Amino acid sequence: MSRPRKVHVKSFGCQMNVYDSNRMADTLAPAGFTETARADDADLVILNTCHIREKAGDKVYSEIGRIRMLKDAAELQGRRMLIAVAGCMAQAEGEEIIRRAGAVDLVVGSQNYHRLPDLIARVQAGEQIVDTEFPVEDKFDVLAAPARDAIVKRGISAFVTVQEGCDKFCTFCVVPYTRGAEVSRAVEKIAAEVKRLAAAGVREVTLIGQNVNAYHGQGSDGRPWTLGQLLYRLADVPGIARLRYTTSHPRDMNDDLIAAHGELPALMPYVHLPVQSGSDRMLAAMNRRHTRKDYLDVIARLRAGRADLAFTSDFIVGFPGETEDDFRDSLTLLDEVGFACAYSFMYSPRPGTPAADMEPQVPQEKKSERLQRLQAVINRYWREFNASFIGRTVDVLLEKPGKLPGQLVGRSPYLQTVQVMAPAALIGSVLPVGITNIGTNTLFGTLLSNMPARRRWP
Ligand code: SAH
Ligand code: SF4
Ligand code: F3S
Repeated sequence: MSRPRKVHVKSFGCQMNVYDSNRMADTLAPAGFTETARADDADLVILNTCHIREKAGDKVYSEIGRIRMLKDAAELQGRRMLIAVAGCMAQAEGEEIIRRAGAVDLVVGSQNYHRLPDLIARVQAGEQIVDTEFPVEDKFDVLAAPARDAIVKRGISAFVTVQEGCDKFCTFCVVPYTRGAEVSRAVEKIAAEVKRLAAAGVREVTLIGQNVNAYHGQGSDGRPWTLGQLLYRLADVPGIARLRYTTSHPRDMNDDLIAAHGELPALMPYVHLPVQSGSDRMLAAMNRRHTRKDYLDVIARLRAGRADLAFTSDFIVGFPGETEDDFRDSLTLLDEVGFACAYSFMYSPRPGTPAADMEPQVPQEKKSERLQRLQAVINRYWREFNASFIGRTVDVLLEKPGKLPGQLVGRSPYLQTVQVMAPAALIGSVLPVGITNIGTNTLFGTLLSNMPARRRWP
């Protein structure tokens, strides 16, 4: 063990990016690094970046500017601060980052962060390094496991990466280039990670992957297993009360997974299923490889297995060539599915992706106008969805203390934040709460029992 140093890791991206940030900290711990929430007293600042839309990159460059000032201030005090840029933007831009921002000491790609202890040692010895080659070894086999106190600090709901990369090549998307080809982790390795989390008090696990339902990792019998099979395996891990997964692709929503939704009480009835557009013409141009009807059929099959499922989605507005009619198809799809909520984005041309060169690009004002119209409808559905819970009883996983004394904050099966008066000893329990009121993003309720509900639907 070397002398204690501090590392500050900041995430800019999706859940997988957050998971990677934690694993970076885990893997640096045996090299003597403890995590700090502050950048100014860190010996190493890692910016874990995202490349999905243009704004994501802009944010990182302005953050590098800010950290650079902290680095200069540290130097005046005779202390050396290292700056590392990791993640998807690092993967995509590589050396360009150091050209634009010379204060950066290390650029490490999305698949190479298991090498951080070694890379940091070399940087400390005076090198400036860009490491973005996709490695031959599997980083998951090399990464240090999280320490028990690190797991406890991160709370009772955890992410676990089960699949990475994407082979779908939607024409707007950088992920196949920044994350590489689709790879799945083996079932028992995932089960071992989940057991370790559960032993440290984690009650809810969200399985993550850029294309999580394309999962096909080696199963306990040596054959490739589906995500559905993996979920059954993990539902048996003692202590795990809730399972979720994200993000899935409509084409990979197979029978096993649909059956799991009907049969596994631990699998939460809230499915994020990005559609991107309601127009078949746009879906084809996006290379989504599904039609509006295919999407609606998947939703219907899922609902037939379990009636209380709720859906969320992702939409892109202003994809090249999108007309008013195409856009209206997205609006009508919102009505037809009745999503609980959705994320929506203005199309952002990404260098190197096919759609960046498609014509005609939609003018910025049009994109922004469509986004506002779409979001107005989405917000109405979200409010209605939340309002439908008043007077109902929901099982809440109590996660942490609330702002008021005696209050706890938890999550409903539909990921709504729920505030309730309850003793701290109940943190980690799933208990029935009667919903009495709603705020903008929160449900308020009364604890109905401090005995966990027996195995029934959430
Ligand atoms: N793997 C997931 C999501 C990946 S990125 C899927 O298959 O859908 C998350 C979301 O960002 C996407 O669903 C999409 O809506 C949005 N997105 C991706 N690239 C984009 C781009 N170039 N411009 C705008 N939004 C984009
Ligand atoms: Fe990107 Fe998702 Fe399409 Fe893969 S399936 S290319 S991650 S939008
Ligand atoms: Fe961004 Fe990479 Fe995630 S591009 S959305 S951090 S996979």
